[in-house]
Amino acid sequence: MYVLEAKGLKKVYGEAEARVEALRGVDLQVMAGEMVVIMGPSGSGKSTLLALLGGVDVPTEGSVWLEGVDLATLSDDQRTLLRRRRIGFVFQSFNLLPILTAVENVALPLELDGLNSAEARRRATEMLKLVGLEDRHHHVPSHLSGGEQQRVAVARALVIQPALLLADEPTGNLDSQSGQKLTALLRRLVDEHHQTIVLVTHDPEVASHADRIIHIRDGRIEREERLRPVRSVLPSKLSVAESAGEGIRLSRPVPVEPLGRIPPRHPS
Ligand SMILES: Nc1ncnc2c1ncn2[C@@H]1O[C@H](COP(=O)(O)OP(=O)(O)O)[C@@H](O)[C@H]1O
Ligand SMILES: [Mg+2]
Repeated sequence: MYVLEAKGLKKVYGEAEARVEALRGVDLQVMAGEMVVIMGPSGSGKSTLLALLGGVDVPTEGSVWLEGVDLATLSDDQRTLLRRRRIGFVFQSFNLLPILTAVENVALPLELDGLNSAEARRRATEMLKLVGLEDRHHHVPSHLSGGEQQRVAVARALVIQPALLLADEPTGNLDSQSGQKLTALLRRLVDEHHQTIVLVTHDPEVASHADRIIHIRDGRIEREERLRPVRSVLPSKLSVAESAGEGIRLSRPVPVEPLGRIPPRHPS
């Protein structure tokens, strides 16, 4: 089963002299429980590709299917909702809200989606445990190390039980030891929880943990390396309870709901 499929993805920014062909025709298929790393020089289109795969931006040409849903068939609001419920994002900058504690940051996506605060906190607590931060619940980001902040960001991305975790240079701001710890955590999520991950990195050490490395250059796939054999695994399943309206499937149009009282996280 493919969690993610992309066909003929092209992305053009700007016009005339400012025109940039960031992607020139990318095809990609990612299986459930696979860890795919995207590598390539700066400016080769890696972040653009992640933005299209995550429905943050729309392609100029080509299609993206997430869990069998063609993103082009969704309205902007439906795409936003699908992103919020089925995709976890982790960035180089941790993007935690500075005034919230770790557990509040992790609970935020669930509260934003209308889950009651007690249940949201319970799940956030489990996620912090999963990333090894059970003793840091009540710390605000400024009282956490970079590596700890990024693990909070991973917990926040995972708390919705996403079909797909997208990470853009997640170790880019970390020292090598914290980077290795984070990479080991991501690999463990794949091995033990069948999480599907697409990760952009410059770092060959990080990339060595992938099942497959896709090298991109000038907006095209240059070559692919398989590091680990294809495994047949079940779709992503994290250890938190699957009760209370979870397990949302998006085979039909997504009902659009009001955003609620909490400001959308970045990127909204
Ligand atoms: N919003 C944008 N507007 C115009 N050009 C952009 C925009 N985003 C990216 N680009 C250009 O597209 C190309 C690919 O960028 P990007 O996907 O960020 O590359 P990478 O992540 O591999 O460094 C670059 O030439 C970049 O300058
Ligand atoms: Mg980039």
